[in-house]
Amino acid sequence: MKVLVTGGAGYIGSHTVLALIEAGHIPVVVDNLSNSSFESIKRVEQITETSIEFHENDVCDKQALKSLFSKEKIDAIIHFAGYKSVGESIAKPLAYFDNNLNSTLSLLEVIYADSDPKAPKFIFSSSANVYGNPEVLPVSEIAKTGEGITNPYGYTKFFCEQILKEVCVSNPEFQAIALRYFNPIGAHPSGIIGEDSQETPNNVAPYICQVAAGKLSEFSIFGDDYDTPDGTGIRDYIHVMDLAEGHVAALNFNSKGFEAINLGTGTGTSVLELHSAFEKAAELTIPYKFAQRREGDIESSYADVAKAHQLLNWKSKRTVSDGCADAWRWQSHNPDGYGKN
Ligand code: NAD
Ligand code: WQD
Repeated sequence: MKVLVTGGAGYIGSHTVLALIEAGHIPVVVDNLSNSSFESIKRVEQITETSIEFHENDVCDKQALKSLFSKEKIDAIIHFAGYKSVGESIAKPLAYFDNNLNSTLSLLEVIYADSDPKAPKFIFSSSANVYGNPEVLPVSEIAKTGEGITNPYGYTKFFCEQILKEVCVSNPEFQAIALRYFNPIGAHPSGIIGEDSQETPNNVAPYICQVAAGKLSEFSIFGDDYDTPDGTGIRDYIHVMDLAEGHVAALNFNSKGFEAINLGTGTGTSVLELHSAFEKAAELTIPYKFAQRREGDIESSYADVAKAHQLLNWKSKRTVSDGCADAWRWQSHNPDGYGKN
């Protein structure tokens, strides 16, 4: 299939572009490089020994999209492009609603512009954030969404899912699959591509990595008094290559209208367990201290993965230790990410 990958130069996008090529698909990448570098695409070209069609465009730019769709026959769209920082979304809610909603709306308007009911299959990057604070664990797709979301970023994912649902109602031929990612970690095992954090990371895995690399002095564990076996928060850390392969599996799935599917491992890992897995992977002592709970954090979240297995015939294969080892290989080979090596 020829697959339009928006945000394909970013962290999850670049690994998915690689997985698509390995599965024999042809990616066409559109990215405005607002949070990424063209170097990631060059690195994927290096690993796969192929050349990748790349367009430096904003997905909110409908004219640019129209021109692309008029020249290319696109079979499916994987829509990663968007802003992704929970903390930044609280400080800049309008920027988040603007970019994350308008990028999705522009794509939908353009693929419907010629009123062809057979629009390309649409795979959307959603997030476990839509579940807010889940009442039942593991959290399954039938859990309620939209309630208890603590930040604008999470609302953008929830609203985009609603938009996709309504478009499916209006056109029964339209296939929209919202993949709800849990917590992505790791990098391609080559260490050639990975997560390029330009600023101090908010997410736990890149933060620990930078402490291990000596770029940050100490790792703060947010809360040691949760009602969990070791008192620290529990999440479902999924290897980014498993996540990437989940997208390839979704391309082969024919949904009847809208379908939301969790992509996780099904297993919860505490912050202390993650820290210790990183220490083993890096063969280093990584200094940490306990700090206050972070506002808006939930205690535990991990996925019910039955639906992904049933509908996509996909399961995660890699362990948290694999994720830590691969993230550390990427970090130690590329101390400044794609910037300077
Ligand atoms: P990322 O920031 O590395 O990648 C996003 C890419 O989109 C970047 O390359 C950026 O330049 C591009 N982009 C942003 N707005 C754009 C626009 N208007 N037009 C064109 N390109 C644009 O983030 P990521 O971690 O790879 O996340 C990819 C997607 O997955 C996002 O939608 C994110 O919300 C979602 N997601 C991420 C996580 C996570 O923890 N990383 C978890 C759940 C969901
Ligand atoms: C994980 C755990 C923290 C940093 C967010 C989004 C989610 C998804 C992934 C996009 C928690 C603890 C963290 C640190 C710590 N992104 N922690 N010290 O909050 O589960 O999810 O990112 O969609 O939607 O909400 O991920 O990596 O920030 O935190 O102790 O320096 O690590 O308290 O228990 P989170 P995270």
